Amino acid sequence: MVHIKTTAEVELMRESALLVSQTLSELASLIKPGITTSMLDKRAEEFILDNKAVPSFKNYKGYPFATCISVNDAVVHGFPNSNIIKEGDLVSVDVGVFKNGFHGDSAYTFGLAPVVEEHKLLMQVTRQSLYLGIERAHVGNRVGDISNAIQEFAERNHHMGVVRELVGHGLGRHLHEDPQVPNFGKKGTGAKLKENMVIAIEPMINLGTKDVFYDSDGWTVRTRDGKFSAHYEHTICIKKGKADILSSFDGIIQQEKLNSSLMSDY
Ligand code: MF3
Ligand code: CO
Repeated sequence: MVHIKTTAEVELMRESALLVSQTLSELASLIKPGITTSMLDKRAEEFILDNKAVPSFKNYKGYPFATCISVNDAVVHGFPNSNIIKEGDLVSVDVGVFKNGFHGDSAYTFGLAPVVEEHKLLMQVTRQSLYLGIERAHVGNRVGDISNAIQEFAERNHHMGVVRELVGHGLGRHLHEDPQVPNFGKKGTGAKLKENMVIAIEPMINLGTKDVFYDSDGWTVRTRDGKFSAHYEHTICIKKGKADILSSFDGIIQQEKLNSSLMSDY
């Protein structure tokens, strides 16, 4: 069942989504070669709790951490661990927070400078596919219009792999609500987009094959061919015209520019 939000609820969700964005910005200021993904997770959890919220992912279906940190060939749901981040890595960080009864959800892929050209392109294409999806996310369209925009751009224009196994989703009082929002599909199909529906759009794009497998930890999703993957996610609210993007990459991009360890020349 799709839960349409009231205007007041959308404003609470904006608060949750912006706290996710602030958490990602905080991590953007800390990430550098030599740091472990577990250190980033610890800081994120502390930051979320300091801001009177709780991490949405911790204990969700048994997931054991506040964040998902997926490095290089890891697509999503990577476990923070003692592995050290190094130059050339692509580090996808996914954060969710629960505050005032509502979840916010957003993800961003950081590139540890120097990043090779093909990985830069992967990051650009994935991020652009998210915004192309958001452009189609308005009243009068259906979920499939969002899905199709993402798939066409990544697969047809750039010959990259769109992950099929995991999808975007509605969210609100629950982290995952209807409808599902796949990153592949046909125009004019799927659920109708209604004013004040809140959804997370989250393309996961692989440089090579779309095929993935689950790591032995039971959570980490990796590319079959070992090539790199990127993931960007926004929480957005459907409107009659342009969608209202509740999360924001602005603070993250600002930190990326200040942090010389991060690639920022998109
Ligand atoms: N952004 C992802 C999602 O919405 C993160 C979920 S991680 C989990 O599905 F641990 F909570 F499952
Ligand atoms: Co999500």
